[in-house]
Amino acid sequence: MTTLCIAGGTGQIGRLAARLAVEQGHEVTVFSRNPPLGAADSAAADDGVRYLRADATTGQGLAEALGGSDVVIDCLEGRSGNALKQYADAGARLLAAAAAAGVRRAVTLSIINCDASTAAFYASKAAKERVYAASGLETVTVRASQFHSLLADVFAAGAKVGLVPAIRGARFQSISPSEVARALLAEALAPSPAPAGQQHRTVTIAGPEIRTMRELAESWRRITGRKGLIVEFPLPGAMGDYLRKGLNLAPELRHGTETFESWLAKTPDSL
Ligand SMILES: NC(=O)c1ccc[n+]([C@@H]2O[C@H](COP(=O)([O-])OP(=O)(O)OC[C@H]3O[C@@H](n4cnc5c(N)ncnc54)[C@H](OP(=O)(O)O)[C@@H]3O)[C@@H](O)[C@H]2O)c1
Repeated sequence: MTTLCIAGGTGQIGRLAARLAVEQGHEVTVFSRNPPLGAADSAAADDGVRYLRADATTGQGLAEALGGSDVVIDCLEGRSGNALKQYADAGARLLAAAAAAGVRRAVTLSIINCDASTAAFYASKAAKERVYAASGLETVTVRASQFHSLLADVFAAGAKVGLVPAIRGARFQSISPSEVARALLAEALAPSPAPAGQQHRTVTIAGPEIRTMRELAESWRRITGRKGLIVEFPLPGAMGDYLRKGLNLAPELRHGTETFESWLAKTPDSL
C-alpha cells in the first residue's frame, strides 16, 4: 500500500487517478482550492479519498496535504492570467513542500513537446517541467498528447452555434483521460529507487491512432448524433504552428487501446 497525495485530484485526470488508486488499495489524499462541499478536512469521504483544501500558488495548506505521503501526483492546471504566470512557481512550491514532508517521488502531468512551442500556455508547462527536472526529489514528467475530452469539448462548444470546428491540416493522436490517469499512477507506483543517474525521467504517452481533426469531427457528429456544419479553418500563431509541425504527435508511441470513437461511445456524459 502506498500513500499518495494527488494535487488537483478534483480535476479531470486527478479524479480518475484518485479513484483508480483507491480501487487498488492505496491511501489517497487529494487537495485543491475548492474541495467538494462537506468533504474537506474529513478523514475520508464516501469514495475513500481524503479531501483537503490547499493552494499550490500561495502554499497554504500544502504541508498538511503532503504530510505522510510517499508520492505526490501533480495534476494541477493554470490556464490563464496569474494562474498561468505562476504555474511553474506553484510547481516549485509543491516540490519544496513535498521535500520538507519527506515525500520520495513526484510525478507531474505535462503536454507532449510543450518545450518546442512558443505559445504561452505551452511555455508555462515547459517551465514547470524544468522545475521538476532540477528538483532534488525523484521526479517523473509524463507528457501526454491531447485528451479525447479536449476535442469533444471543442466540437460541443461549436455545435452550440451550429458549427463543428476543425483546424485545417491538424492531426491528433488523442488519448483517453483514464489511460492518462493509469499511466500517471503506474509511474507513481513503479519500483524505487530509480536506476542510478535517473533521478528525473520524462515519459511520453500518445493515443492509439492519428486522425485529422475533420475525421474526428465527423466521428463526433456520428456518435453523438449532434448537428452542426463541419467548418475547416486555418489556425494562425504559435498554437497553429505547433499543430502544423505535428508536434502533438508521436507516431512511434501508441499508448493504450481506447480510440476517440470507443471513448465517445462509452462516455455518455461527454455527448
Ligand atoms: N486537456 C488536454 O488535452 C491535456 C493534454 C495533456 C496534458 N494536459 C494537462 O494535464 C493537467 C491536468 O489536466 P485536467 O484536465 O485534469 O485539469 P483540470 O480538470 O483543470 O484540473 C485541475 C485541478 O487542479 C486544481 N488546481 C488548480 N490550481 C490549483 C492551485 N493553485 N492549488 C491547488 N489546486 C489547484 C483544480 O481544482 P481547484 O480549481 O478547485 O483548485 C483541479 O482539481 C493540466 O496541467 C493540463 O494542462 C492536458
